[in-house]
Amino acid sequence: MTDPIRLGIAGLGTVGAGVVKIVQRHGSLLERRCGRPVEITAVSARSREKDRGVSIKPYAWEDDPVALARRDDVDVLVELMGGEDGPAKNATEAAIANGKHVVTANKAMLAHHGQALAEAAEDAGVNLRFEAAVAGGIPVIKALTEGLAGNAITRVMGVMNGTCNYILTRMDDAGLTYEEAFAEADGLGYLEADPELDVGGIDAGHKLSLLASIAFGTRVAFDDMTLEGIGRISIDDIRRAGDLGYKIKLLGVAQMTGRGLEQRMTPCLVPSASPLGQLLGGTNMVVIEGDAVEQIVLRGPGAGEGPTASAVMGDICDIARGIRLPVFGQPAQTLRPAPPANAESPACFYLRLALVDKPGALAKVATVLGENGISIDRMRQYDHPGADAPVLIVTHRTARPNLDTALAALPGTGVVTGAPVALRIEDV
Ligand code: NAP
Ligand code: HSE
Repeated sequence: MTDPIRLGIAGLGTVGAGVVKIVQRHGSLLERRCGRPVEITAVSARSREKDRGVSIKPYAWEDDPVALARRDDVDVLVELMGGEDGPAKNATEAAIANGKHVVTANKAMLAHHGQALAEAAEDAGVNLRFEAAVAGGIPVIKALTEGLAGNAITRVMGVMNGTCNYILTRMDDAGLTYEEAFAEADGLGYLEADPELDVGGIDAGHKLSLLASIAFGTRVAFDDMTLEGIGRISIDDIRRAGDLGYKIKLLGVAQMTGRGLEQRMTPCLVPSASPLGQLLGGTNMVVIEGDAVEQIVLRGPGAGEGPTASAVMGDICDIARGIRLPVFGQPAQTLRPAPPANAESPACFYLRLALVDKPGALAKVATVLGENGISIDRMRQYDHPGADAPVLIVTHRTARPNLDTALAALPGTGVVTGAPVALRIEDV
């Protein structure tokens, strides 16, 4: 009989327990597919006593994940604790130093330490795999590194945080306020331990930075990303954007332009009828464009026990089959520093303004826009019970710095009350 591949699982929470369940449920299926048995030999978590909905009695226990990573009877460290530093990074480094493969779902760790860990793993001749770190159950890392390896990738974009998409969907379809939708997501257990990682766009930004590295052959450059969360999106904007034929999404876009690598994770408008516009609830979607394939759209569950464990198991099976791939699709030493774009590509913008309702007010706004080279495509004013008139403007394609200059000049007109809202309209 062929030797089993032996797993040491560090972290037995949502994802870790899901992996244990799959290994226990699908022993013979995994053996057939991998050509060898897949066995768990040891596990680690903070509490040995906690009920995890699955028996961990058959496995050796380690209090210290680093000790788990060093065990002689572990071939693969499955790191499912989370956190960019601390035990996750220590255990990963220990596993690599001891010649063990690593499978992780930890996008935070890779967004911050991906280059160093990838170099260490490749120097040691071991795999470091992270399918579950990006878009949960969607096999997007495999798509980019393998299926699309023959393409020059031109753009990667998508909705990569299910919590944010759930909140925006519920504000839209149930008319909930941001706070109500947030509370609902919390009640469903969607939020990370630190919710700011979700609603601040950071978790999705981590994921996009990993995709950008593979897509463009550059070192992970999370710190260069333009990040904005969904906290300032109001029910008003969701309604108004809907009237104009758009949905608001926390959208990640990475593209290599003449100005450098553009990486943005920000709230954007997308056409309601587009696949991204129709994405509801906690589901994720990744759109990849390449010179040969043109465009592919991947859609599926971005989080949760089963989908995330499914992605972890895919990586484990590849390692068991003897498949060896560079961590980011090409040797880490050959990844070049990402040249950060000095400006985002021009786009159409959605503007929502409150104007004093008196003759000439609109003309003053149009003058400021015109002086900054911004042309108006569409405009709409709504009925209003109060003194301030809500006005929506969709601009023609314009450069962001021009828009920023115009926004800074608008209060000087004396007709704009409150802070204008400006959101990018993405070509999808
Ligand atoms: P979780 O439910 O909070 O579980 C974390 C596990 O790590 C727990 O079992 C915890 O032990 C253990 N742990 C924490 N600190 C430890 C330490 N110092 N030593 C040993 N064990 C420690 O987290 P999760 O949702 O499964 O997420 C795990 C990883 O997957 C994270 O990197 C996350 O970002 C990523 N991920 C999660 C999802 C998802 O849907 N949940 C999706 C994609 C990626 P105790 O149980 O004893 O407290
Ligand atoms: N908190 C993440 C999300 C799940 O809402 O998509 C883990 O990636």
